[in-house]
Amino acid sequence: MADQIAYCDEVACAKANCNPVVCRGEGIASNQLIFERSSRAIPGGVNSSIRAFKSVGGNPYIVSRAEGAKVFDVEGHEYIDLVQSYGAIILGHAHPKVVEAIRSAAGDGTSYGAPTTREMKLAEAISERVPSCERVRFMNSGTEATSTAVRLARGTTGRKRIVTFHGNFHGATDALLAAGGSGIATLGLPGTAGVPEEAVANTWVLPYNVVPQLDHDVAAVFVEPVAANMGVVSPAPGFLEGLRRECDRVGALLVFDEVISGFRLGLGGAQAKFDVRPDLTCFGKVIGGGLPIGAVGGRQDVMENLTPLGTVFHAGTLAGNPLATAAGLATLQQLGQGEYIELLARARHLSALLRDACASVGVRAQFPVVGTLVGMYFGDAMTEAPTNFEEAKSTDEKLYAQIFHALLAAGVALPPGAYEALFVGLAHNDAVMDELAHRISLALGSLQR
Ligand SMILES: Cc1ncc(COP(=O)(O)O)c(C=O)c1O
Repeated sequence: MADQIAYCDEVACAKANCNPVVCRGEGIASNQLIFERSSRAIPGGVNSSIRAFKSVGGNPYIVSRAEGAKVFDVEGHEYIDLVQSYGAIILGHAHPKVVEAIRSAAGDGTSYGAPTTREMKLAEAISERVPSCERVRFMNSGTEATSTAVRLARGTTGRKRIVTFHGNFHGATDALLAAGGSGIATLGLPGTAGVPEEAVANTWVLPYNVVPQLDHDVAAVFVEPVAANMGVVSPAPGFLEGLRRECDRVGALLVFDEVISGFRLGLGGAQAKFDVRPDLTCFGKVIGGGLPIGAVGGRQDVMENLTPLGTVFHAGTLAGNPLATAAGLATLQQLGQGEYIELLARARHLSALLRDACASVGVRAQFPVVGTLVGMYFGDAMTEAPTNFEEAKSTDEKLYAQIFHALLAAGVALPPGAYEALFVGLAHNDAVMDELAHRISLALGSLQR
């Protein structure tokens, strides 16, 4: 506290709950007050709608810092974090190797407008680990990756039609916002205002886990090979293979959106786990080690249709940013087969903890584990893990909101939406898992009372 007072906007603040970031000598350090103040500056007080507590009620906690498996809010509460920046963090928050890589890169300058060695190394690292990615192009977010992939697929095939699946989410890309999972499902909207009909006129949204019969006007099929935006839904046996076959039959491109599953399920992502090779892959999250990044990787002949070699335009002032590529490289360098075996065990452990705690208080729930991802579905309808969006939607959102708040009060942070995946990372070690077990059982016990 002494340190905090000293840094309070250079005002020697004597207020007991001074927080240096926001106090300004007024003693402001509550989640509530900061959220209210943020809401006067930022629509809804959040910079990603998915962070809002709209579907669970209440206001978000305001993070002051994070370390390993934990985040801390401005009131000093500690949460075991199962959000992990929605999957961007895999080594744990503020991992020393990542922090050092960012520090060192920043000292060399933060952006140049000319190529760097780090971009080359990260592209090589991705290609080495994901063989379908013969070439890789970087951008700043998963959304930019999917929108670039749409343009690239259309430019390559000369066709307009894009096929997607109910409950999959590909970021805030107009052409892919015809109907989505995650935030869209949570907000209960069929699509979103601001996307004109024309923008989605060539987008078909079909049921997940059913292989569609494609026409010859399809440019690309976009799919989350493991659906992680409607809880976690595994691809049915034969689904991804069927998509590959249909794309080949009609000359369409198969695009795997591995923004979540890439480097999360294993070194080769979902495509290695299920042994299906897409033409293009979209990445984000883990490959930036918690800094803004996105990438499209894929077949050389397709990727070389991007400018400057080809005619499909792509550019970005900060694309391949030195800090993001440094953090991404440092992250990938820490991840080998052993780490993924560890993560898999953690994911199973988390699922078992939640399952047992729910069972002990008579809450019916499913916590499917696909690779290192854990899904969650609550309520009496949940006799089995869902296989598509229709089934996923029968999760009990009201019950989720109660469980969410009970866990938050016990010091466990879940995402504030019933259709998100849970993320464990390498920082969720034995001690953290033991503490997690304790907090989960406390939370569910309080719910029962
Ligand atoms: C599967 C998938 N694709 C794309 C995106 C968009 O990525 P970003 O939020 O980095 O724009 C997300 C975001 O969660 C995602 O889950």
